[in-house]
Amino acid sequence: MAKRIIRFGVIGCGLMGKEFASAAARWLHVANVDFEPCITAVCDANLQAAEWFRERIPGVATVTDDYRTLLADPDIDAVYCAVPHHLHADLYADIVRAGKHLLGEKPFGIDREANERIMTAIAERPDVLVRCSSEFPFFPGAYRIAQWVREGRFGRIIEAEAGFWHSSDLDPNKPVNWKRREATNGEYGCMGDLGMHVLHLPLRFGWKPRSVRALLQKVVEERPDGKGGIAPCETWDNAILACDVDTADQRFPMVLSMKRIAPGHANTWFIRIAGTELSAEFSTKNPKRLAYLPYRPGGEQAWHTIDVPHQSAYPTLTGGIFEFGFSDSILQMWTAFCDELVNREAMSQPLYCATPDEAAASHEVFTAALESGRTGQTVRIGGRDRHEAESAAPASV
Ligand SMILES: NC(=O)c1ccc[n+]([C@@H]2O[C@H](COP(=O)([O-])OP(=O)(O)OC[C@H]3O[C@@H](n4cnc5c(N)ncnc54)[C@H](O)[C@@H]3O)[C@@H](O)[C@H]2O)c1
Repeated sequence: MAKRIIRFGVIGCGLMGKEFASAAARWLHVANVDFEPCITAVCDANLQAAEWFRERIPGVATVTDDYRTLLADPDIDAVYCAVPHHLHADLYADIVRAGKHLLGEKPFGIDREANERIMTAIAERPDVLVRCSSEFPFFPGAYRIAQWVREGRFGRIIEAEAGFWHSSDLDPNKPVNWKRREATNGEYGCMGDLGMHVLHLPLRFGWKPRSVRALLQKVVEERPDGKGGIAPCETWDNAILACDVDTADQRFPMVLSMKRIAPGHANTWFIRIAGTELSAEFSTKNPKRLAYLPYRPGGEQAWHTIDVPHQSAYPTLTGGIFEFGFSDSILQMWTAFCDELVNREAMSQPLYCATPDEAAASHEVFTAALESGRTGQTVRIGGRDRHEAESAAPASV
């Protein structure tokens, strides 16, 4: 099969830049696709990090510490950008204006104003495909829940919950890093860091919160600065958001939580939906396990649990009985991005990567959550809800 080669530049050669390199290097794992990413240029402010790529990837021709050099290269089709949050606005806007397709890391701007700058650049270049990284919906259990929502299998939604919990920051001796500083991670803290992962599926389902009451928490107030001193931790460690979802045909509560300090949890991403006809739960803590409870009036209420097969958006070499993991979800997300880049609306399966509009909606939620945290009040998101509008309307005669 003749494959379309997509020539990628990588900006930000740290943890996530290397994850993409690894996914691209095992592309033969994906069965029957007619496109393939090829990393040809890399950029990092720390040239040593970029050299890691040159040493390992034969196609890398350019290594630079200036991303403008990479953007000026006409032979680069697309860019993966994985840099700290304070750089998103400038770099993403420049990437898009240079006409390069972009998979950018969340949260798509350090704050709402930065996100709006990115959205302005995107509006100028409708020819450029821009998507936001969010891989967990590609776990087979999550993928199946998304399919059930599309099929309308849940009936009326009673409530929903989604979360992303880490525990690595429980250790007070862990040195401070850019995620604990407001200048590099933003006031959002854990929401900017983990929140897009939590909101991706709810937003895709059309469950945009209309209001939020936020409980924001700083658990570890200071940490070693790595130079023999102590530095303050400026950003929120944990956030619990109680949201009111109000769609055209239903209204229900949704709890979103993002925690950097959740004892015992290592990258636990989960979603739970309770509905009148079906309930379902999936968590990466038990990545094979999918629990669901179908219900008919008067019938038994029995949870079923299954080991979901290794089946996600795109078939791979791995047999159905084997386990699916984080790096598999990254590979699936990358396949979805490349599929959409090459085939647009004709991509081969329905779960496309998170959109800029979804990222912008997440900023509305986080900004309202900060206000709620400050005031202790429930904060309305996006104007009046339909109930307020109805009660404000003059009575018909
Ligand atoms: N999708 C996920 O699961 C996931 C996981 C972790 C992080 N992230 C996101 O990825 C992004 C990067 O996080 P990370 O954990 O890879 O960080 P990291 O610190 O490991 O890597 C960031 C890299 O950016 C480089 N950099 C800094 N300034 C630069 C500049 N001006 N030009 C080029 N390179 C520059 C740094 O030198 C560093 O190598 C963030 O947006 C973060 O939220 C996503």
